[in-house]
Amino acid sequence: MTAVDNALNSNSDVSSHTLFVCKTCASVWQDGKRIGESGGEKFLKKLQLLAQDWELREKFAIQPVECMSACNRSCVVAFAAQGKITYLFGDLAVDESASAVLECANKYYDKNDGILPWSERPEALKKGILAKIPPISGARG
Ligand code: FES
Repeated sequence: MTAVDNALNSNSDVSSHTLFVCKTCASVWQDGKRIGESGGEKFLKKLQLLAQDWELREKFAIQPVECMSACNRSCVVAFAAQGKITYLFGDLAVDESASAVLECANKYYDKNDGILPWSERPEALKKGILAKIPPISGARG
């Protein structure tokens, strides 16, 4: 292993987790063009605002994405990290779910395997689970 590899590895905890947020969800379209601000963009802004005071803001990146193919279940987010289950959640209300998403992200971060049992998830993320994908480094849960 080179010195550069070591340096990269020592930074592996920086943004080691990612919260993907679909910014296209709940868009209004006219003549093939998106009109105004989408629900996903509003939701993303709420998350980014809340995350300014979030203790995990340096470790849990919020990454906007164009679409996660769950368009009829807006708004949609995903939690992902190396070696952990990946979760996709939908049906998140723009005005009410942002704090619940960050609360759930805290739980996801705290678990070595990332498993989020129904009973431990905030109310807004109890029903809208769309996918639970095993980690690449060996199936768990
Ligand atoms: S537009 Fe949000 S998942 Fe497709």
